[in-house]
Amino acid sequence: MSAGVNRANRTGKPIIQLRSVHKSFGNLHVLAGVDLDIPEGKTTVVLGPSGSGKSVMLKHIVGLLRPDKGEIFFDGQRIDNLKERDFTDVRLQVGLLFQGGALFDSLTVEENIEFPLREHTKLSREERHERVGKALEVVDLKGMFKKLPVQLSGGQRKRVALARAIVLQPRVVLYDEPTTGLDPIRSDGINELIIKLSKNMGVTSIVVTHDLVSARKVADRCVMLLHGKIAADGTYDELARHENQQVSHFFMGQYDQEYEKD
Ligand SMILES: Nc1ncnc2c1ncn2[C@@H]1O[C@H](COP(=O)(O)OP(=O)(O)OP(=O)(O)O)[C@@H](O)[C@H]1O
Ligand SMILES: [Mg+2]
Repeated sequence: MSAGVNRANRTGKPIIQLRSVHKSFGNLHVLAGVDLDIPEGKTTVVLGPSGSGKSVMLKHIVGLLRPDKGEIFFDGQRIDNLKERDFTDVRLQVGLLFQGGALFDSLTVEENIEFPLREHTKLSREERHERVGKALEVVDLKGMFKKLPVQLSGGQRKRVALARAIVLQPRVVLYDEPTTGLDPIRSDGINELIIKLSKNMGVTSIVVTHDLVSARKVADRCVMLLHGKIAADGTYDELARHENQQVSHFFMGQYDQEYEKD
C-alpha cells in the first residue's frame, strides 16, 4: 500500500484512506479527486456547501456507491473493488447515521435498532434485546423499546438512528448531518453523544455537518469539500481564517457565488 502523501495524517494512524476518488452522475462530476486520510480514534468534521458531495463521499466508505476512479482503503485493505458480499466485513465495522435518520416508520424502536443485528449476526432474540437495550442506554433513551418513530421527537429519532448505527459496536461511525433540524439544546445533546462515543469507546468519527457550532465542538480536525476536492484541512480555527476565501466565507455564513460553479 502507498505510504500516502496526505498532510492531514498527523494525529494518528489512518483507518480510512481515499486516494484520488472520482465519481460522476451523468455530466455531474461530484467527486473530482478526493484525497483524505481519516485518523483512527479522532473526530474529523467534513464541511461543504449543499450538493458538494459530502453524502456521496460517505456512501463510498460503506460501499453504497463505488468510485469511477481512485482507491479507498479501510484499515490498510483496499475496499473500493470488493465484491458486494465481501463488503459485509467493512459494514460490520462502520456505522452510518443517515442524513434524516431514515428510520422504518412501521417498525418499533427496538425493531429498527435490531435490524443490523438480524442482517449481520446470528445472535439470539434475547442477545439482540440486550444489545438494543445497551445501545438505547448509550443514547440516553433507556427502555424506549416499544415506541414507534411517529411517537418520538426529532431529537429522539436522531438518537434512535444513532443507536442503530452503533448497535454492531463499530470502530467507525459516519454521521451525516446529525444535528440538522434540531434546536440548539437537542443539537448539543447529539454533540455530547458524539464526544462520548469518541472519548469513552475510542470510536473514530466522521461528522458531515453545516452546523458550525457542532463542528467547533466535536472536531479534532475539519476538512472542507469544494468543487469535488478537499480544499482545506486543519483545525476549526485554521479553516475559519483560511486564505481561500471560499473556505473562510463559509465560516462567516457569507454567500459566495463561487460555490455554484462546478
Ligand atoms: N445516486 C445519485 N444519482 C444521481 N445524482 C446523485 C446521486 N447521489 C447524489 N447525487 C448528486 O450529487 C450531488 C452531491 O450530492 P450529495 O448528496 O453528496 O450532496 P451533499 O454535499 O451531501 O449536500 P447536502 O449538504 O445538501 O446534504 C448532488 O448534485 C446530487 O444531486
Ligand atoms: Mg448530504
